[in-house]
Amino acid sequence: MPIEWSAEAGQFHLRNDLVSYVVRILENDWLGHVYFGASLAEGKSYSHLVPGDFFGFSNRLGHPTPLELPIGGTGDYRIPALAIELPDGSGVLDLRYKSHRTFPGKPGLPGLPATYAEIGTEAETLEVVVADRMAKIEVCLQYTIYRDRPVVVRGARVTNAGESAVIVRCAMSAALDLPDSDWQLVTLSGDWARECQVERHDLRPGRQSISSSRGASGHQHNPFVVLARPATTEEHGEAYGFSLVYSGNFLVEAEVEPFGTTRVRAGINPDGFSWLLDPGADFVTPEAVLAFSSGGLGDLSDTFHCLFRDRLARGTWRDRARPIVINNWEATYFDFDEPKLLAIASAAHEMGIELFVLDDGWFGRRNDDTTSLGDWEVNLAKLPGGVESLARKVEELGMSFGIWIEPEMVSRHSQMFIEHTDWAIGVPVRPRTEGRNQYVLDMSRPDVVNHLFGVISGILGSAPISYVKWDMNRNITEPFSPTLPAWRQGEFMHRYILGVYSLYDRLTKAFPGVLFESCAGGGGRFDPGMLAFAPQGWTSDDTDAIERLRIQWGTSLAYPLSSMAAHVSAVPNHQVGRITPLATRAAVAFFGVFGYELDPTVMSAEERVEIADQVSFYKQWRELFQRGRFLRLRSPFEGDRNETAWMTVARDGRSAIVGHYRILSRPNPGPQRLRLRGLDASASYRVSVWPSAEPAGAPLRSTVLGGDELMAAGLVLESNRKSAEAGDFRARLYVLEAEERRPSPEVAP
Ligand code: DGJ
Repeated sequence: MPIEWSAEAGQFHLRNDLVSYVVRILENDWLGHVYFGASLAEGKSYSHLVPGDFFGFSNRLGHPTPLELPIGGTGDYRIPALAIELPDGSGVLDLRYKSHRTFPGKPGLPGLPATYAEIGTEAETLEVVVADRMAKIEVCLQYTIYRDRPVVVRGARVTNAGESAVIVRCAMSAALDLPDSDWQLVTLSGDWARECQVERHDLRPGRQSISSSRGASGHQHNPFVVLARPATTEEHGEAYGFSLVYSGNFLVEAEVEPFGTTRVRAGINPDGFSWLLDPGADFVTPEAVLAFSSGGLGDLSDTFHCLFRDRLARGTWRDRARPIVINNWEATYFDFDEPKLLAIASAAHEMGIELFVLDDGWFGRRNDDTTSLGDWEVNLAKLPGGVESLARKVEELGMSFGIWIEPEMVSRHSQMFIEHTDWAIGVPVRPRTEGRNQYVLDMSRPDVVNHLFGVISGILGSAPISYVKWDMNRNITEPFSPTLPAWRQGEFMHRYILGVYSLYDRLTKAFPGVLFESCAGGGGRFDPGMLAFAPQGWTSDDTDAIERLRIQWGTSLAYPLSSMAAHVSAVPNHQVGRITPLATRAAVAFFGVFGYELDPTVMSAEERVEIADQVSFYKQWRELFQRGRFLRLRSPFEGDRNETAWMTVARDGRSAIVGHYRILSRPNPGPQRLRLRGLDASASYRVSVWPSAEPAGAPLRSTVLGGDELMAAGLVLESNRKSAEAGDFRARLYVLEAEERRPSPEVAP
């Protein structure tokens, strides 16, 4: 089994062929961190790597002892993983090893999304309990290692075993000490419509962090960071990835202390957080996923992609091919009626699109964004036969039907707000801040969650609905719940997200056949917590192909293509006004869960033929796009930022599709090659180009090239030859299909 315990050395060694994680019980019974990185030999003690004890820095000339559960006030002046206010107001804890157990598989987390093991033998879990005997606080540190993944998943359960309540002020999911600071911190940062921009900076002395205090993980920072060696590239070098399976206020922080070691901590943002722990009560942290690669960022990303796609996402849609959707948002905004929607659906169906999504504006009096959130009754002026009639007519066309909801919100102008003003978050004596003309519902209240479950179940049960886009368009202000006592208001933000998870959990269980897509004004809550319920998310409200290159590249650092919804929209693009070729828009959106967000009824016959061609191309290669191994080749964040290239390769290496994108056309470009990765070096690939320069329906031009050549020498790029004709914003896809292997000649005996 992958967890080795040596009583003699007091050492736990979690190992597989890819990684090792070593923990040691120090001489004073504290839990020391020994190592996390490439796999180490089993059956050995690694105690000599760290000091034997920890009694505060004063005993050891201030040298830092690496710790599994660092606590403030102890002489460890670095960032803590746990802070508890005891009944006497003190916060000093002495948490010493008490017990441990290991068992096959991985337990779930009560009320929280988590990765899982499907068969007991694919993972093993270690639980180590440390206890402060005087304060009667116990912490159970949980570690799961997968047999075949370079991943350790960590979390903690804090128990108050005493007779008086205590206050948890900080409870990190994980802290990790690394012996040096020669790392660069890579984060995915941005804002609305420009999410997941890759930032990469050297670590420096002191603290550096990303966080959210918005009540959602946020557009601004994804709860994911990488520590990469300065020389680490997509293909080579060491990198650690830290991801938090959480959708609320979070913190991921690194601290470099004076001896040059680095501590990383990840968990619920302690700013504004507190949790009252009654005698006998537990507090369970969200889990953190820690991954390591010595094969570069590409390898690290693949680790997260496979884990999130196969052991975080769940349910019917986890492994199923995702449908190609057409969403009416950018086609109509709020201005639609049933005939208009059916005309869009019908035109889409003729082009092969599989699912029609009715976006915002179908309920209450919602003709703009100032009203009706909370009044989830169909607007009969727009849809006289209700959602059911529209859904059935869409089905009769031969398509599936999906619907948009924004359950966590209420408009000031709504019946719900009149009847349940206290359901909207706010401090009763103070004005509430509006965002997009709406308030956020108090999801910490079980009565609100129950109401929403009833209403949404009613909608989903009333019509043949097979897809739900769950939106969330503003962040929380004036956090406060009148249902919580004063001393529990610090729990509000976490209770809010627990309420969201509980609603998601109940709805996904009640409607197991429905495909949920999460959304928060695009990528405002695109995080692993959401992926546990909704296997795909709306990556960004920015549908411009050129902006999407950066957004999708950044998002792909942590998330698989099967989770990234990507749509072709109209030009001029509604977010940036850019005009890009239809083929380029598709060539970018193919690398995700593909769909459209435009009005096909106003498009020319030629454009509709082109879309039909795109749809059939995606259907042919859907498995490869949604489940292949994604490799980033040329970064839109590096060099002159004029080019991007990436590829997806079948797991067996027999097929691949390469996307190459050039933003501005440049005069007189030299011949260019692109080195591919992940192919079978011994295979010959038939390489064809999309879109074909030949008339529609004609076979793609193709040539046969060796996998070895394509990886070592590179693929000669088409687009650069005829730059002047091509113009700006051009894309080319290269489809690689391995030729049948010739049987090896019989060797005469
Ligand atoms: C924000 C979403 O990201 C959009 O796709 C759209 O659904 C609007 N909300 C609707 O209000």
